[in-house]
Amino acid sequence: MQPMSELRTVEWTNGRVRMIDQTKLPYKFVYVSYKNYREIARAIKEMVVRGAPAIGVAAAMGIALAADSSHAKTKQQLISELGAAAVVLRKSRPTAWNLFWAIDRILQVARNAAGEPKKIASRVVEESLKIAEEDIEANKRIGEHGAALLNDGDKVLTHCNTGTLATVSYGTALAPIRTAIKQGKRLQVIATETRPRLQGAKLTTYELLRDRIPVTLIVDGAVGYVMNKGLVNKAIVGADRVTKKFVANKVGTYLIALAAQANEIPFYVAAPTSTFDLRSNHSEVQIEERNAQEVTHIGGKRIVPKGVKVFNPAFDVTPVELVEGFITEKGVIRADMVRAGVLGT
Ligand code: MRU
Repeated sequence: MQPMSELRTVEWTNGRVRMIDQTKLPYKFVYVSYKNYREIARAIKEMVVRGAPAIGVAAAMGIALAADSSHAKTKQQLISELGAAAVVLRKSRPTAWNLFWAIDRILQVARNAAGEPKKIASRVVEESLKIAEEDIEANKRIGEHGAALLNDGDKVLTHCNTGTLATVSYGTALAPIRTAIKQGKRLQVIATETRPRLQGAKLTTYELLRDRIPVTLIVDGAVGYVMNKGLVNKAIVGADRVTKKFVANKVGTYLIALAAQANEIPFYVAAPTSTFDLRSNHSEVQIEERNAQEVTHIGGKRIVPKGVKVFNPAFDVTPVELVEGFITEKGVIRADMVRAGVLGT
């Protein structure tokens, strides 16, 4: 079986977009293939594809599908079709900055391109492939920079899924772990279950077991206990969006950061610079609220009394001051630099 670190979660194949169907894991490993941007938007919403970088690439490829199948006679007509696709894709998930970043980048390329609509369309497809390649490249660099922070024997806690399945390949928070292990360091990963969608239990353990990386699964509520018992000495999580003030990431991240601070455990955030939204006067981010059924049901079976009121935010926000370092493709960036909006060259 091919290791997860060599697979691609999202890929352009023969004029279609192929994805690993993450709603079927860990029971079944299957690919699904999409032919238009509406299907891609639905796949993002329903979490067939998830994880901020993977969502960004999927959206870029969604616009590429719109370009590739267009019969537009003029550039203006093509741009307006791509704009319509962008409107639908932007509504798919509101928190992941990579989604907006990738859509803006691809629309800009289309606007700047010269020539016949067909030529502009191929330029759009090409750019979506470039974004995918850059994602893998960034993750490999995150792996190198992050591995330098890890020592032989470390026990690293991670949350949600931040591996190949959350990116095009290799992952963000799992990248330093992969690279350190390749360098011969012996690591133990502690993965949180990640209620309610169970990305940690279903996806992270699947990825790590498949790649023979030692992993122990804990329930979310056990984080404080394992830290206090010394069963963890570092924490690395991913991010859906980093602003100058906070990190928006899978709900539960803030509590992990607080527990890490209380137990003097360094808490790192691993993310490509495409996840950083450092617009100057920007402090509000829409935190996605998902269906109550994600909380009230497990495996299709209701586990709570009928009629109970539910609040189900998919993400939370962690102040940047709680972050020991941001592991990016450009190096490890301190919180005060992020506050100042500086990510390096
Ligand atoms: O709701 P999800 O599964 O898309 O949430 C994913 C996360 O919160 C990840 O930590 C984040 O996107 C970074 S993944 C490289």
